[in-house]
Amino acid sequence: MKPNLFVKVAGVTLTNPVIAASGCYGFGDDYTDLYPPNVLGGVSCKGTTLEPRDGNPTPRIAETHGGILNSVGLQNYGVDKFAADFVPKLKAQGCVVIANIAGSTLEDYAEAVSRLDGTDVDLIELNISCPNVKQGGAAFGVTAEGAALVTKAVRAVTKKPIMVKLTPNVTDIVSIAKAVEAEGADALSLINTLLGMRIDINTRRPVLKNNVGGLSGAAVFPVALRMVWQVANAVDIDVVGLGGISSASDAIEMMLAGAKAVQVGTAIISDPFAPLKIIGGISEYMRVNKIKNLTEIIGKVKPW
Ligand code: FUM
Repeated sequence: MKPNLFVKVAGVTLTNPVIAASGCYGFGDDYTDLYPPNVLGGVSCKGTTLEPRDGNPTPRIAETHGGILNSVGLQNYGVDKFAADFVPKLKAQGCVVIANIAGSTLEDYAEAVSRLDGTDVDLIELNISCPNVKQGGAAFGVTAEGAALVTKAVRAVTKKPIMVKLTPNVTDIVSIAKAVEAEGADALSLINTLLGMRIDINTRRPVLKNNVGGLSGAAVFPVALRMVWQVANAVDIDVVGLGGISSASDAIEMMLAGAKAVQVGTAIISDPFAPLKIIGGISEYMRVNKIKNLTEIIGKVKPW
């Protein structure tokens, strides 16, 4: 019998648990020649703000061992173009659309989210974890108080499910997860990138014009897995795991740690087919191990 890969995140049904992570898949346009975007469990779109942004000066991407550093700075078209052009296009292709929303102030977040209320966006991913902007972003996500304030402000203006994307650049991610749960978040996604740096030894300049940037890719997977496990054990709302997932086995580890679904980001940049290989690999693992439903895996790690 074919394994059942359906999962529900924040009340939204996904045909499989593999979502394209924000910032690594754009709006799907670059990939439609390779496969239709609706074969993915969902698409988390590039971080979008109230007004369009040019992002940070280049260079803003640097390779590292097992990953990349980015300091893109939330380059995006603004929420109105996102709502008018990209959401209908993705919905017409049968996708579950996740809007990743960032802002500089509480008012920015609330206004951007309220402009999506009349659209077909399925889920709002509240980005309080981008490390590359001077105002807002991770500044809200690094304290329980700040994270709670943004969640409350957004909860007040939308009935759509809210998934808050957490930063790993904190000492106690569990207290932040609990604070946003208390303010009405329906789900959590974690982790965003880890703050990092590279220096060119010849010029003695940082490789990134922004000096620092966010580290993603396979190198961060064990950190992400540990945080997902800690958070999933501390909250009752759904958890979506991301951070360096590059294989079906990584995705299954994330689900064993408590993630209901996963997001794949940096792996798509080196292999656009990575999400499809991961979906196929999860299905094969279920077939071989006679697992009918993903609920038999989710949160089922057996800690020593
Ligand atoms: O700089 C960026 O656009 C990154 C966004 C993020 O990490 O959420």
